[in-house]
Amino acid sequence: MRGSCSHLSWQDLRAAVQSCTRCALAKTRTQAVFGTGDVQARWMIIGEAPGADEDRRGEPFVGRAGQLLNNMLAAIGLPRESVYIANVLKCRPPNNRDPKVDEAANCRGYLERQIELVNPTLILVVGRIAAQNLLHTDAPLARLRGKQHRAPVSGTPVVVTYHPAYLLRQPADKRKAWEDLQFAREILATHVN
Ligand code: URA
Repeated sequence: MRGSCSHLSWQDLRAAVQSCTRCALAKTRTQAVFGTGDVQARWMIIGEAPGADEDRRGEPFVGRAGQLLNNMLAAIGLPRESVYIANVLKCRPPNNRDPKVDEAANCRGYLERQIELVNPTLILVVGRIAAQNLLHTDAPLARLRGKQHRAPVSGTPVVVTYHPAYLLRQPADKRKAWEDLQFAREILATHVN
């Protein structure tokens, strides 16, 4: 899959995602949700998969979780438009179930090419599912937070934090998410570009 995307321009990559029929999610989606934001961003945010709002609007993180994500970014001085936001899966799983292994594998090349094209200084991954998929690990979120990881292929520094949908249910953990954001900011500050 990686090989088949690694040469694509933004325009061709978007077209490939929008017409993708590699898995059964193509039959149930309203539309594929490609990604949004500054294609030259220093920060890239990676989530799990579109939900109902995103499936309808064609943009990642536009529902309630997206609103909280925007607030989290604003708290560290980042307008939503200044980052690039994408998901591991480009199509909504029915009833928001977890992505299946083959679905994530089929989509992986799209995300890897997005990372390559944006070439961010830092990737912030939100939630266990997105983190496990991006980092190819089964480790629980508690073990993934608070460390700097590297994205496979690109080697980009990766920081893992809670998914905003989880924080809506468990607001007491917002303090720990704030620590993660500070940690990410510190890593970024050590880079000169
Ligand atoms: N949750 C995600 O992981 N991604 C979205 O785009 C929306 C909700």
